[in-house]
Amino acid sequence: MAVARGPRVTVYPSDRAAARALAHRIADAVAANPELVLGLPTGRTPVALYHELASLHAHGRVDLARVTTFNLDEFLGIGPSDEGSYHRFMANHLFRRVNIPTSQQNMLNGTAPVPERECARFEEAIAAAGGIDLQVLGLGTNGHIGFNEPASELQSRTHRVTLTPETRRSNAALFGGNAARVPLEALSMGMATIMGARAIVLLATGKSKASCIERVINGPLTTKLPASFLQLHHDVDVMLDEAAGERLGAGLRSET
Ligand code: GLP
Repeated sequence: MAVARGPRVTVYPSDRAAARALAHRIADAVAANPELVLGLPTGRTPVALYHELASLHAHGRVDLARVTTFNLDEFLGIGPSDEGSYHRFMANHLFRRVNIPTSQQNMLNGTAPVPERECARFEEAIAAAGGIDLQVLGLGTNGHIGFNEPASELQSRTHRVTLTPETRRSNAALFGGNAARVPLEALSMGMATIMGARAIVLLATGKSKASCIERVINGPLTTKLPASFLQLHHDVDVMLDEAAGERLGAGLRSET
């Protein structure tokens, strides 16, 4: 059994530089395996990544025609065309700008009549695709990954989740700045779904993530900080800008 040596941390001079490096890593992975299965996040952080990826595509540097994607999560009770949905986010920021066929874009359906069945369908689709090769993650300020919120227990597989007030506040921008309009529940890949990816990259930028990142890298494993479990995975990269990495020791800070 491979022993996890802990996440590899790289600090870039800016959020743009981190996003560009990750876009190049994805392009290289697709060049090596055109049928790459990619796990994708939403949030403010990956906006720059998707911009860089779309730019690589526009310049003929990456062909995503055979790539399959799985998004981490979706709000419950709102449809794909709803302004605040992650479907809409992905269409706006990535899917309408690159050439991944719609049939290869997998997202949880927030209006599925039986949410639990939708979660099971998603797990089966990931398995049928051969598992996720590269899972990109963002980080909630409370340490959540996907919508795996801090709790006394974490869910293993794709599941229905009640969002914390903090998470609803940080997603308010998608709902006209009004946290009260953010759905109370969501569907999310579980911890084992995420940890089952062959490689994981956590992208975190900005000062608001610095204390969380310090605990994710150096702290104990705790369900109160779901991202801390990434320490157990054997192939994790943590890509940061200076602001998100400011609480890490000088030895961990690198990259031009
Ligand atoms: C949402 C998503 C997470 C994401 C987080 C961070 O809650 N469900 O997957 O990582 O936002 O968002 P941001 O990048 O805006 O800080």
